[in-house]
Amino acid sequence: MTATATQTSIRTATGPTPGARISVAPMMAWTTREQRYFMRQITRSALLYTEMVTTGALIHGDRERFLAYNADEHPIALQLGGSDPAAMADCAVMAQDHGYDEVNINVGCPSDRVQNGTFGACLMGEPQRVADCVAAMKARVDMPVTVKTRIGIDHQDSYEFLQAFTRAVADAGADALIVHARKAWLSGLSPKENREVPPLDYARVHALKADFPDLAMSINGGIVDLDTAAAQLEHLDGVMIGREAYKNPYVMAAVDRRFFDADADIPRRGEIVAAMRGYISNHLAAGGALKDVTRHMLGLYHGQPGGRAWRRVLSEQGHRKDADLNVLDAALARVEPTEAVA
Ligand SMILES: Cc1cc2nc3c(=O)[nH]c(=O)nc-3n(C[C@H](O)[C@H](O)[C@H](O)COP(=O)(O)O)c2cc1C
Repeated sequence: MTATATQTSIRTATGPTPGARISVAPMMAWTTREQRYFMRQITRSALLYTEMVTTGALIHGDRERFLAYNADEHPIALQLGGSDPAAMADCAVMAQDHGYDEVNINVGCPSDRVQNGTFGACLMGEPQRVADCVAAMKARVDMPVTVKTRIGIDHQDSYEFLQAFTRAVADAGADALIVHARKAWLSGLSPKENREVPPLDYARVHALKADFPDLAMSINGGIVDLDTAAAQLEHLDGVMIGREAYKNPYVMAAVDRRFFDADADIPRRGEIVAAMRGYISNHLAAGGALKDVTRHMLGLYHGQPGGRAWRRVLSEQGHRKDADLNVLDAALARVEPTEAVA
């Protein structure tokens, strides 16, 4: 299905949650196109985000390389890093022309490099600029324009501050807000620490949704299983899962059945690996390396018998220059053939 921000989440007692926005977070160096193709073998319906791409890279760099994706990756959102409304609008047009299902503005990433470029979490301190970006983008495209943000930055962490930011982007026409439920410290903490140290405050995001009932809102941060995701959907329109979906990708296997379609299949791990073979063959034939793909598959058998051996074989043998599908077979031979489904 194509994700739109305006879908409502109507729940039945036992069935799936139509329209829920279950997504996999944008993660630099992790949510590459190879990882997204792999994730797509696990869930057909979750919305997948690209890594952040800066407006500078798209306008001055190898645009086609940054925008390329496999048609099977839909629904897919392009995440942009930037703060110049005209440049953001140009890049939104590129996203639309390339068939992306959503374009998202990064207002959550606290890294130094990003602060220097005036984008990411520091933009929370400039709500009007973010609003101007949203408005400029909405004026040029008819796809959903969404904003991924934090609950605050540095000492600007009051509820009123978050409310004012939200009001600005909502009034500018943003189709949805994705809130990482912790603030960011712009200096003093590394990006990694900024994903762990500031405490999560889900209640604040729930309150924000209650204050902005017409704005589709997803929550992000620390969600590691589908029961928790379902509980969040009692308050919000969507749930975005980051690190757990990467490190333990099979956590997403029941997403389609649980949140989208009661008849959806839950793929077995072995089926997921089988579905990757053709993609890997093509990747190798095009001159790519096995590890470009298999590095994202290391966690597939997390917690399963043979799961460590799977990871070890793929990581030790996968980086060799001549590594091919035989490495995948060798890894597969180390895991239980009769694994349970989610
Ligand atoms: C390796 C890595 C790279 C990330 N890169 C981005 C990024 O490019 N853009 C972004 O908005 N957030 C980025 N994030 C933050 C995630 O999107 C997410 O907000 C964060 O990990 C919290 O969610 P989680 O607890 O489910 O992982 C990154 C996180 C990780 C672990």
